[in-house]
Amino acid sequence: MGTILVTGSLGQIGTELVPLLVKKFGPSRVIASDVKSPNSDIFHEIEYVPLDVTNRDLVASTLKERSVTEVFHMAGILSALGERNPELAFMVNSVGTFNVLDSAMKAGVNRVMIPSTIGVFGKDTPRDNVPVVTVTRPTTMYGVTKVNAELLSAYFRSKFGLDVRGVRYPGIVSYKTPPSAGTTDYAVDMYYHAVAGKNYECYLKEDAALPMMYMPDALDSLMKLYSADEGRLRYTIDYNISAFSFDPRTLAESIRKVIPDFNVTYRPDYRQAIAETWPRSLDSTDAKIDWGFSPEYDLDAMTEDMIRNLSEMHLKSQPSR
Ligand SMILES: NC(=O)c1ccc[n+]([C@@H]2O[C@H](COP(=O)([O-])OP(=O)(O)OC[C@H]3O[C@@H](n4cnc5c(N)ncnc54)[C@H](O)[C@@H]3O)[C@@H](O)[C@H]2O)c1
Repeated sequence: MGTILVTGSLGQIGTELVPLLVKKFGPSRVIASDVKSPNSDIFHEIEYVPLDVTNRDLVASTLKERSVTEVFHMAGILSALGERNPELAFMVNSVGTFNVLDSAMKAGVNRVMIPSTIGVFGKDTPRDNVPVVTVTRPTTMYGVTKVNAELLSAYFRSKFGLDVRGVRYPGIVSYKTPPSAGTTDYAVDMYYHAVAGKNYECYLKEDAALPMMYMPDALDSLMKLYSADEGRLRYTIDYNISAFSFDPRTLAESIRKVIPDFNVTYRPDYRQAIAETWPRSLDSTDAKIDWGFSPEYDLDAMTEDMIRNLSEMHLKSQPSR
C-alpha cells in the first residue's frame, strides 16, 4: 500500500478531503501538501509537505521519494482570481497539472484524481442540461486552463495508460473553509451573512442560475469515481455532475424559510460576466450510468444543514460574557 498525496490541501475542497482520506485509508498513508503553510495544526495526524506544483523537479522528487501511488490534485487558481491574475492561473492550472501528470506517469503512480469545472464551458455551449461532450470554448483564463487540463488528462490516459479520473464540479457550497476565489462563492457568503444576522449585497444578478452541489455530495462523488471499475469509465476528468441549479433569488428564498427577515440586494460586478458564460444546468446522466453518481442533498436540505452548522460555529466564536 503506497502513499496518497493531496496537492492544494489547504483549499476549500482539500481541507475536507484530507480528513476523509485519513478516515478511509489511515493516517500513515496520507500526505497533505500546498504552496501555503498551514496556520494551525489542522492536519496534526499526518505528514504535511510544502509543494508548489509549478516546480516540476519538486513534484517529481516528492512523488518518487515518498513512494506515492495515488494523487488527489486539488491545487488550483479559481475563476475570479484567475481573471485578476491570468498568468498565475496558467502556471498553476496548466503547467502545474502537466507537472503532476508527467511526474505521475514517470513515477508509476496508479491513479490521479483531478477536478475539472463548469468553467470549461463558454458562450457557445448550450445553457441547459449540458451533456459531457459539447462545445468547450471558454472565454475566462480559468476555463482555458481547465480545458487544457482536461485534454492533457485524456492524452496521458490514452498515450501512457495513466489512470486519470475527475469530475466537472459545479459551484460547491460548504461551511468549514470559506471559499475565496470563485464566481459561485456568493452562495456560501449569503449563508454566512444570514447566520450573522446581516443582510447581503450580491455580486450576481438575482436570476443568474448556475449548477451547484453541497460539499458532502462533492466529496462522496469523488470517492465513488475513485473506487469505480476503470473498465466502465468512458470519460477522463470531464464527467458532468450537479445536484441542482439555483439563482441568488431562489437561494435567498430557501434561507428565508429558516431565517425569515434575511434580505438581499443586488449589485452585479465582473463576476456576473463570468457567470453568463456558464450553463444554467448540467446533464449528469453519464456519471450516474458509469459510476453511480447520486447526490443526497436538495437545496432546502443543504440550507438547513448549512445554517445549523454555521450557527454552531457562530455561537462558539462569540465572546462569553
Ligand atoms: N470550489 C468550487 O466551487 C470548485 C468548483 C469547480 C471546480 N473546482 C476545482 O477543484 C479544485 C480545488 O478547488 P478549491 O475550491 O479547493 O480551491 P481553493 O482556491 O479553495 O484551493 C486551492 C488550493 O490550491 C493551492 N495552490 C495554489 N497555487 C498552488 C501551487 N502553485 N502549488 C500548490 N498549491 C497551490 C492554494 O493555496 C489553495 O489552498 C480546483 O482544481 C478547482 O478548479 C472547485
